[in-house]
Amino acid sequence: MHESPAVRGRRIKKSFGDVVALDGVDLDVAAGQVHGLVGPNGAGKTTLLGLLLGLAVADGGELEILGTPVGRTLAVPDGVAGFVDGPGLYPSLTARQNLSALASLRGYDAGRGVDDALEQVGLTDVADDRIRGFSLGMRQRLGLAAALLTRPRLLVLDEPANGLDPAGKHHVHRVITGLAADGVAVVLSSHRMDDLAALCSEVTVLATGRVVFSGPVTKLAAESGALDYRLLTSDTAAARRVALDTPGIRVPSGGDRVQRPDADVLVVRGAVPAVEELVVRLVRAEVAVRELAPVVAPLEAAFLALTGAVPTDEEVS
Ligand SMILES: Nc1ncnc2c1ncn2[C@@H]1O[C@H](COP(=O)(O)OP(=O)(O)O)[C@@H](O)[C@H]1O
Ligand SMILES: [Mg+2]
Repeated sequence: MHESPAVRGRRIKKSFGDVVALDGVDLDVAAGQVHGLVGPNGAGKTTLLGLLLGLAVADGGELEILGTPVGRTLAVPDGVAGFVDGPGLYPSLTARQNLSALASLRGYDAGRGVDDALEQVGLTDVADDRIRGFSLGMRQRLGLAAALLTRPRLLVLDEPANGLDPAGKHHVHRVITGLAADGVAVVLSSHRMDDLAALCSEVTVLATGRVVFSGPVTKLAAESGALDYRLLTSDTAAARRVALDTPGIRVPSGGDRVQRPDADVLVVRGAVPAVEELVVRLVRAEVAVRELAPVVAPLEAAFLALTGAVPTDEEVS
């Protein structure tokens, strides 16, 4: 059976006055694919997701959703569900009432669907609590439940990891993985690469409205090139001498003692083959390697290199 892609976007443009939010963006999402849209704040992620949800219309380019070209008028394309900038919910209603209200607004007979959706996102225990007191993470999960009610073929989620605790993350991951296994296409955004790494097979990296990378996550990690590694050995001084002698390895100035109390850590910079050679040489020099780990994870490093974003303290610690 021929199946049209869930999303096919070409040269999409969108401006707000003088601000060019999307500048010729291509996006391809296949059925059953979890596609990550990643980029720093202001990159254009929410704008692009808004176009997929029919909340805005592009100024230029072509956009096809579930095989249907998107026209010039605002309308939620058939088979698409999701939200940007947080789900629209009624604070004075309970979680269950919110879902029932949404279902009837959209003309669905929710029936058991409401309970199923609440269960899937792990909100059964708070189904009859007013959502006024819900955390951001709980609201995100309720928004996901609302999207599930419509049995979408394309699910669009803007920064779904925001505010999720580990249990919430686990539910959201399970729901998304399950949907994808059933052939639903999922597009989700994040300003942090590590949020998406575990979920997505493909990513599109945006920086100020342009695509700077598009392809499999595995290929993205290879874009990081030389990385900084923390190296802990039995003899820091000897390790430093070996490192300086190894082709392709640099010891950034201040690379030993890095602002840390553990003075035995040496930071070395190099690509994977050079780092492997360094380990061989250390062992030959009878310097034991206790720990070797990238300072910033390779995916995050590739993301930072591509987007020119500055890592936050949280990301480098
Ligand atoms: N409704 C709007 N009016 C004016 N500028 C906007 C509007 N929406 C987004 N922008 C601008 O477009 C750019 C992209 O924004 P956005 O899509 O929200 O980025 P992201 O979601 O990646 O943080 C930003 O410079 C933002 O200020
Ligand atoms: Mg956004």
